[in-house]
Amino acid sequence: CALQPALYQLSDFPIGCAVDLNKLDYNPTYAQLLGQQFNQLSPENIMKPEHIHPQPNYYHWSEVDSLLSYCQKEHKSLHGHTLIWHQQLPPWMEEFEGTTAEWEAMFKDHIQSICRHFKGKVRAWDVVNEAFNEDGTLRNSIWKQHLGAAYIEKAFRYAHEADPDALLFYNDFNLAINPKKRAAVLSLLKNLKQRGLALDGIGLQMHISIAFPENRVIESAFQDFSKAGFLVHISELDISVNPYGGDFQAGAEIWERQAQKLAAVISLYKQIENSQRYGITFWGLSDADSWIPSAFNRKDYPLLFDGNYQAKAAYCKMKESL
Ligand code: XIL
Repeated sequence: CALQPALYQLSDFPIGCAVDLNKLDYNPTYAQLLGQQFNQLSPENIMKPEHIHPQPNYYHWSEVDSLLSYCQKEHKSLHGHTLIWHQQLPPWMEEFEGTTAEWEAMFKDHIQSICRHFKGKVRAWDVVNEAFNEDGTLRNSIWKQHLGAAYIEKAFRYAHEADPDALLFYNDFNLAINPKKRAAVLSLLKNLKQRGLALDGIGLQMHISIAFPENRVIESAFQDFSKAGFLVHISELDISVNPYGGDFQAGAEIWERQAQKLAAVISLYKQIENSQRYGITFWGLSDADSWIPSAFNRKDYPLLFDGNYQAKAAYCKMKESL
């Protein structure tokens, strides 16, 4: 199918993509397609603690600043990902020794230095990423260990203080498929919002597959969060075609199933109130850019474009569904 009009031109909500700055700078095919199809970008790695805050008193701004000037020039919004997480931490943070007060000061400095640097320039922040376990309890991250469960609330307060105009999100995975985890996250979010915290939305990562979750389960996840008054961001969408690993034979039938699954996600997303649709972000541009094969050690082809940056059935079907 034709590449134009582009995805974002057909959509009344932003269409995002996780971006790798190196490819944007050095791979013209990647840069052309990304710029053409998407109007919102999430840095895939360069805003994470290990990249942006590699030493206690040093913040590495230059890469994100350069991505930001690209965004400004090309009229794309930037989605800030992510301030507080248990992964991709710099070693010094994991090894930090200090009293509770010193931990709190370090945590606050991390959040507020970053939010202040980008004040008014990013559309939103994933303030806290993946704080819950699958059984609905809080993950025992370094933040929970040293600051207690209240670290989540504190993170949102500090972020809002430093960049009052940015939208603030809680982001996590498996919220569509796992009802226990979803209920726990929803109850915390509702509670914080009731207490007046600036907490605007939920990021549903949605690393899903052609088989799971079922559409009605996806629908209930969208409805649960939107009815509770939160913006809904599908923040890291990819649709695995080989979720259990092993041998894999690609074929037209598989691409069609992937396309059908994406069409279902889009149409369910469109049932959410227009003002609560923050956007849909794909976690990578082409199958050659996906994190899935290396992270899970399997063959997989979960994105809109194939390894040669050619549109797949999912791309074409998405355009019919927008
Ligand atoms: C992944 C990136 O895509 C990889 O390049 C990196 O090696 C590890 O992190 N949940 C998140 C994302 O919130 O930041 C992760 O991104 C994927 C899972």
